[in-house]
Amino acid sequence: MAYAAYIATALLVWTACRIVYLRHLHPLAHVPGPFWASVTELYRFYHDWIQNGTYYRHFEAYQARYGPVIRIAPNEVLLTDPCHYDTLYSMTTDFYKDPAFYHLSGAETAVFAITHNKDHQRHRALLNPFFSRRSVLQQEGMVRSKVLRLLNRIQQDSQRGLTTELWAGFRAISVDVITEYAFGADRCWDFLGREDFGVWYNHLARAVVPTMYLFRVVPWLRRPMQAMPVWLARRLNPMVVGMLEFMDVTRRDVERVVGDVEHDRKPERETIFHGLLDPEATKAQGLVGVPTVQNMVDEAFGFLGAASETAGNAMTMCAFHVLYDREIYKRLRAELVQAFPDPTTQMDLLALEKLPYLTAVIKEGLRLSYGVIHPLPRVAPKAVEFNGYVLPEGTVVSMSAWLMHRHPDAFPDPDRFDPDRWLDAGRAFYLEKFLVPFSKGNRNCIGQPLAMCEVYLAIALLFRRFDDLEAIDVGPEDLVYEDYFGAFYPKDARKFKVMRRER
Ligand code: HEM
Repeated sequence: MAYAAYIATALLVWTACRIVYLRHLHPLAHVPGPFWASVTELYRFYHDWIQNGTYYRHFEAYQARYGPVIRIAPNEVLLTDPCHYDTLYSMTTDFYKDPAFYHLSGAETAVFAITHNKDHQRHRALLNPFFSRRSVLQQEGMVRSKVLRLLNRIQQDSQRGLTTELWAGFRAISVDVITEYAFGADRCWDFLGREDFGVWYNHLARAVVPTMYLFRVVPWLRRPMQAMPVWLARRLNPMVVGMLEFMDVTRRDVERVVGDVEHDRKPERETIFHGLLDPEATKAQGLVGVPTVQNMVDEAFGFLGAASETAGNAMTMCAFHVLYDREIYKRLRAELVQAFPDPTTQMDLLALEKLPYLTAVIKEGLRLSYGVIHPLPRVAPKAVEFNGYVLPEGTVVSMSAWLMHRHPDAFPDPDRFDPDRWLDAGRAFYLEKFLVPFSKGNRNCIGQPLAMCEVYLAIALLFRRFDDLEAIDVGPEDLVYEDYFGAFYPKDARKFKVMRRER
């Protein structure tokens, strides 16, 4: 009994000393922020785990109360002044991704999670050619074919008196595109061919991704959980079964490519695995050693995770708001019909990108879907000063698209979907500085050209084909996000469905 009392007292004293240290003596003690955020990681955990990814929703209030430099966790500072974006996220920045955060996924060798800038640069150079604009333009026909499948499905559903779950259909486009584009023509997951558009993947991602918040406060839990035997994982979460099956398929694909490379067999179109395994390219980048099969499976799933919700959210946000505001629908259709009077004409990306109203709709969609809603944490390589606050080397500094895309100087009435914001060229040039859905610099989104191709084709083809679509039983209040690094809809939100109006 006495021992228990000693231990409890020791713990109390230790906690009190730690709180005093973190609040008053820590090198970030001078940075303003909520009291509990500065003394414990549990504060952020509470908002992100218990309150379902909602920490980000407090940032505007913090900004009003504490100013442009806010301590949002014991060792993390959020910057809200847009002028710092190019310092943190530029081609030449020395700031690097925070390993304590980016290694939580367990896929430390995947391009997304490599934290050291030099290592990342070499690795990314192997992948860049696959995702260049040129490469995307060569695959435009493939992307178009996926979009057309979704449009045919809407047509058929409406003829049968059914609604189409467009939010899931858009995600199916992005999953089918990335699996075919990156892993090979015969490797498409074909979610568009499924009655439910393969929503299990969205449900699984939504269930799995938040565990990173748990690992952030209980880091020792990560390795045992990620090394969990398959039979146990199946028991704990039956949704994992689908993922494990796809992992097996991906593993076999990777092994096949390894065989191709070893025997010098050239495929019709190379996949990202060919790029990663190309001995000459890896040597040219000064990389030693060949990635393992597991490294490449991790890479594949990194791409899948990065591609699906992000592009799905952007397409959903655009399409929902076009249908929600009949004036926007009318103006967008008028532009598309004028540019492509014959509905059977092929609508090419290069032509679509020149349409001002379509482009404005897409920019608003990207603005309000936020890309990655979580602040992107970077480590300060040396002591730095922001708005008069000196932060020591090793401080984690982050900025958030949520605040950039709602900045009052640029976007008054930020929740309003207003394509007109972008129609004046001079004003649009100014606004571009605040629009960062793909982030910027050395760690910007490698998939940006592919994603833009998907969004342009999906929105343009959808609204050129249908002049009578309606959103069914859904409102703007349903298109809010929970922050699980990527942005997910709340579980109880109504989903975006459409149907053609009866004539
Ligand atoms: C509208 C759609 C998309 C948005 C808004 C988006 C947004 C972003 C953002 C903000 C980042 C930076 C993340 C960070 O710093 O932690 C990122 C990185 C990344 N994205 Fe995307 N993304 C989209 C689509 C895609 C697609 C289609 C792919 C597939 C090719 C992709 C692959 C990646 C990869 C691999 C990275 C890591 C890049 C690196 O660290 O070098 N994304 N994306």
